[in-house]
Amino acid sequence: MSHYVVTGGAGFIGSALVRALLEEGARRVVVIDNLLTGKEENLEEVRDRIEFHRTDIRWYEELAPLVRGADVVFHLAAIPSVPRSIAEPVLTHEVNMDGTFQVLRACREGGVRRLVYAASSSAYGDAETLPKTETMAPRPLSPYAVQKLAGEYYARVFYTCLGLETVSLRYFNVYGPRQDPNSPYSGVISVFMKALIERRPPTIFGDGEQTRDFTYVEDVTALTLKAARAPGVAGKVYNAGNGGRYSLNQVWEILQRLEGVQLPPVYGPPRPGDVRHSQADTTAARRDLGHQPRFSLEEGLKRTLDWYKHSARKVRS
Ligand code: UD1
Repeated sequence: MSHYVVTGGAGFIGSALVRALLEEGARRVVVIDNLLTGKEENLEEVRDRIEFHRTDIRWYEELAPLVRGADVVFHLAAIPSVPRSIAEPVLTHEVNMDGTFQVLRACREGGVRRLVYAASSSAYGDAETLPKTETMAPRPLSPYAVQKLAGEYYARVFYTCLGLETVSLRYFNVYGPRQDPNSPYSGVISVFMKALIERRPPTIFGDGEQTRDFTYVEDVTALTLKAARAPGVAGKVYNAGNGGRYSLNQVWEILQRLEGVQLPPVYGPPRPGDVRHSQADTTAARRDLGHQPRFSLEEGLKRTLDWYKHSARKVRS
């Protein structure tokens, strides 16, 4: 088994998955990305070992020949961000929902063995019980959450009604090297990293006591590879989280300590559509997929910070 397709493979998580596939000896890795949020430079060191196609998952005619006959398609292409889905509901709907449908359709018609779908922890919304288990009723709070959840439902019925093996992984606030800090929609840890390096206080939306199960990107890619192979999991949904829970205030404390600086944050109004607390129950993923997260938050933050510092030095020199 060694012919893979990664949609969104030039993105921060997608490019980490591409590197993981190559490290374990994949024969053929096809990357599909429209470079809307992805960047070719994320694939710099592996560029000559992959097939890169700049195309859009909404364009079925271009997509279909690229996925045909693959062993596994990893569908990570999406426009992430809760606030972006509120600001741009049409575009995000088209990419995250219609695009996902086209990917599923192309996989089914192209005889793909399995599709692994990057779903989102945002599906849980403000469900109060913690940690969040896959059997809980979803309560999406934003267009992004609805779009990602609809993709899961589609993935499931493509298995039950149409015979395509699918597995959905609800990624929980993934962070790590290459996450782009420069957009108004950037993930909070990348924004914190940039502020820290530039010795600026970050803006925290709300009181900073909201919590997230921040998950290091290599733990997520390891689980994603396991989901491609595990037996008996078709049609199912699993949490892809670390199982912990940290507030934004705690994360900023750790980062200041790692750098030996004191930069009290600025607090702004809470963000619409924001979830208050998020934490994964990892029981099912451990049991069925052999999930074993390796990186504590502190270890993941250290590695991420090293990468941002190194890339800031590269830019300066
Ligand atoms: C949500 C999903 C996550 C998904 C992501 C895609 C949940 C629980 N998580 O992340 O699985 O991958 O969407 O984009 O729904 N914040 C600040 N200052 C900033 C930026 C953000 O305080 O400069 C705050 C936000 O208000 C939020 C937290 O940080 O409370 C995390 O925000 P963000 O990194 O954007 O991710 P989520 O919206 O939690």
